[in-house]
Amino acid sequence: MKIRILFVCLGNICRSPAAEGILKAMVEDQGLQDDFYIDSAGIGSWHVGDLPDRRMRRHGQMRGYDFSSRARQVTSADFQDFDLIIVMDDENYYDIKRFSTMPDDMVKVHRINEYFVRYQGRPDVPDPYYGGDSDFKLALDLLEDACQGIINKVMTK
Ligand code: 4NP
Repeated sequence: MKIRILFVCLGNICRSPAAEGILKAMVEDQGLQDDFYIDSAGIGSWHVGDLPDRRMRRHGQMRGYDFSSRARQVTSADFQDFDLIIVMDDENYYDIKRFSTMPDDMVKVHRINEYFVRYQGRPDVPDPYYGGDSDFKLALDLLEDACQGIINKVMTK
């Protein structure tokens, strides 16, 4: 059985598609592709169908990643279709509640900071959308750290 993981951020064009691409790459590198199904979605619908933000794609390319998923919005069915829903910040955590329909839906939702290893103690992955190069680099540093943390937690269960 694969564990089904959904990453969620506000727009699904910066942080969550990067998390999706990084975790997919790490899972492949570590020969674990039979254990994981990975996707991402956004709270908002503004960017549905879009490729990730070109700045995030460029920063990802510099680290050897190809971020090429198309943006989609979160749906109520995601709470049934995924085992683990990982949000990037507190705002995402509160916003995703309005898509939940069952009492236990929110049990599946976890904040990404639970998986930080080197960055333990940081509260979130800040939104780089209105920022510059250093904000995109920081987002990728945090996401790489968290993705290895996710693999470690899932594989030791
Ligand atoms: P993301 O960044 O949540 O990491 O994808 C954002 C992208 C777009 C917008 C906000 C955040 N926006 O307002 O369009």
